[in-house]
Amino acid sequence: MESDELTMLKPNLVQQTQYPTETAAATPVECKVMLRVILASLPLCDFKEGYVEVMVQENGKRKSPNILVTGTPGTGKTTMCTSLAEATQLRHINIGELVKEKNLHDGWDDELDCYVLNEDLVCDELEDVMEEGGNIVDYHGCDFFPERWFDCVIVLQTDNTILYDRLSRRGYKDPKLSNNIECEIFQVLLEEARESYSEDKVIAFKSDNIEDISRNVATLTDWIRNWSLPSQS
Ligand SMILES: Nc1ncnc2c1ncn2[C@@H]1O[C@H](COP(=O)(O)OP(=O)(O)OP(=O)(O)O)[C@@H](O)[C@H]1O
Ligand SMILES: [Mg+2]
Repeated sequence: MESDELTMLKPNLVQQTQYPTETAAATPVECKVMLRVILASLPLCDFKEGYVEVMVQENGKRKSPNILVTGTPGTGKTTMCTSLAEATQLRHINIGELVKEKNLHDGWDDELDCYVLNEDLVCDELEDVMEEGGNIVDYHGCDFFPERWFDCVIVLQTDNTILYDRLSRRGYKDPKLSNNIECEIFQVLLEEARESYSEDKVIAFKSDNIEDISRNVATLTDWIRNWSLPSQS
């Protein structure tokens, strides 16, 4: 394991701990043993040993990160993900489309005017591809995905009046329209993301105009490039 990989897990871990240089060629089992020793020497460590082990195994396999892009309908997830996928060649997975295409639902909900997503079917369908890494997942919900899948969770947010206009242009009417605006006002998706993922993985991005999309895509493209360097070296 490279020391850079450890830095990603816990920024100050490397500075606090001396490693023999030959551990660069350690096997996965040796890595786990080494981490147990490191964690045992850090009594104030704020994460669980099992969790770190999973991250090491997963990051060891992935060549690129998995990113989840969430937010209220209309905040621009699909628009941004499409552009980000073009810029990075990562795979864009639009969960709404996937559910329709592969019938990963329990039928149509007339009241909510959408398919009733079957969470188990969706997670089973995605398990292998998420393990490979390099995915940008686009969905207006996030609490049912396994936490270990994602290296970063982006929550898009839009000014209420701008969002109202976008959803009206789509033909949304009350109560669907007002439900979505309330969802944005009360930051429901940001709360859901913070409850479902560790704090350092969740970032809120503004998505009011074209400049916001460009800036968000540029920021994420840089982050993705930097993320992949340690696991490729
Ligand atoms: N940052 C932005 N600036 C200007 N227009 C935007 C922005 N983001 C999205 N839009 C426009 O808003 C509309 C909704 O965008 P989009 O379909 O990407 O939203 P979404 O979050 O994927 O919605 P859903 O959850 O329903 O799939 C589109 O017409 C898109 O062009
Ligand atoms: Mg969309």
